[in-house]
Amino acid sequence: MESTSKINQFILLRETLIKFAYQVFQQSKSFFSIAHIVIRARLRNIFFPELKKIRQPLSKQLLLEFAQRRKNLGEADWKDAQKGVYPVGTLFYNPWQDFFRYYPEVWRDIPKIWSRWQRKEYQTFSPEIELQGYPPYYLQNFHYQTDGYLSDMSANLYDLQVEILFYGLADSMRRRILSPIKQGLTVFGSVPPDQIKVLDVACGTGRTLKFLRATLPQASLFGVDLSPAYLSKANQLLSENPEELPQLVQANAEKLPYPENYFHGISSVFLFHELPPAARQRVSDAARSWGASAVLGVPPMSNWRGFPHERLHQDIEECFRVTKPGGVLTICDSIQLIDTPEFEVSMNNFIATFHEPYYRNYITDNLVERLEKAGFEQVETENYFVSKYWIARKPETISDC
Ligand SMILES: C[S@@+](CC[C@H](N)C(=O)[O-])C[C@H]1O[C@@H](n2cnc3c(N)ncnc32)[C@H](O)[C@@H]1O
Repeated sequence: MESTSKINQFILLRETLIKFAYQVFQQSKSFFSIAHIVIRARLRNIFFPELKKIRQPLSKQLLLEFAQRRKNLGEADWKDAQKGVYPVGTLFYNPWQDFFRYYPEVWRDIPKIWSRWQRKEYQTFSPEIELQGYPPYYLQNFHYQTDGYLSDMSANLYDLQVEILFYGLADSMRRRILSPIKQGLTVFGSVPPDQIKVLDVACGTGRTLKFLRATLPQASLFGVDLSPAYLSKANQLLSENPEELPQLVQANAEKLPYPENYFHGISSVFLFHELPPAARQRVSDAARSWGASAVLGVPPMSNWRGFPHERLHQDIEECFRVTKPGGVLTICDSIQLIDTPEFEVSMNNFIATFHEPYYRNYITDNLVERLEKAGFEQVETENYFVSKYWIARKPETISDC
């Protein structure tokens, strides 16, 4: 009896220590990011003073709300690990080698970003980059980043830039999709775990796939993205354990190269806000008809304004098509104005600071409606920190799985 209570005390102490270590880890990442942002802003005010006026200050109340949301996100992340949704070690994941190697490059790139921002230049690519074959909306310097998504250096800097942007919480936000996916897959209880197939749409450098692998060690994982450079980076990250390597394919999310009813689960993280309303619908015909411009191979973005918004949401349609009946789709993206209007100032700041041409439309876009229109049901939404989640099911109309 006494020994049982000692074991319980030991378990409790161990958990308390791990939770404390996790909190310290998260706080350190947040402090580091805040320090980076503050120093960057001061330097920007000195060297590019005209960019200073663009952002609106955040109220004290909003900052408190952010702090509370940060805390809730950390708590939810910890609880999922504690429940065994993913191993506790996942909470401490950070590719340190990349950090030390590329953090100085992040600083070297910053003046180029400011200069593009100042000139409102968002279609600039190094001459050696092949621009043919991409949808026009994609050929942009999102966030004014150098070479958009199309160079190795962009892929090397991306994760660091995103971690800083989200105050060290990008991975915690990505991990919020894991519990709904794992829970959603329980309907396929009769399928052997190694025959479960999960796709990450717009997998980027592979961070979400890394966490999916930790959560579903035996499942077959797949990732698609338009960027060869980001896929190559994902391959590097995920081949640390070669027998667990997901299948990575360069493909447009609007035309997934898979048969109908193929995946038991699908995830997509931070993609939808970067798609024009029409590209959340079908873009392949438009991309063909525009072709390439003489200088950069990039058609003028103004062409996109006339695209018919009322056509079906092709990305969601595609996700629906390749999901098995009963399967689950989980989307993670930015918060939206429609359910968190109190964050309007920070959303406006995001638009003013980063080149995000489709974000304003995205924040008022009703994705629940779009998911239901595509055929998904039981659509649920959640908000954590500055991210929003949609969890949807494809109806079980076909019994074969
Ligand atoms: C903001 S990043 C998100 C990457 C990753 N999911 C993450 O969690 O960091 C957007 C990604 O979407 C990809 N992308 C954008 N449009 C796409 C499309 N139509 N089809 C496939 N990938 C696309 C980009 O190449 C980029 O890797």
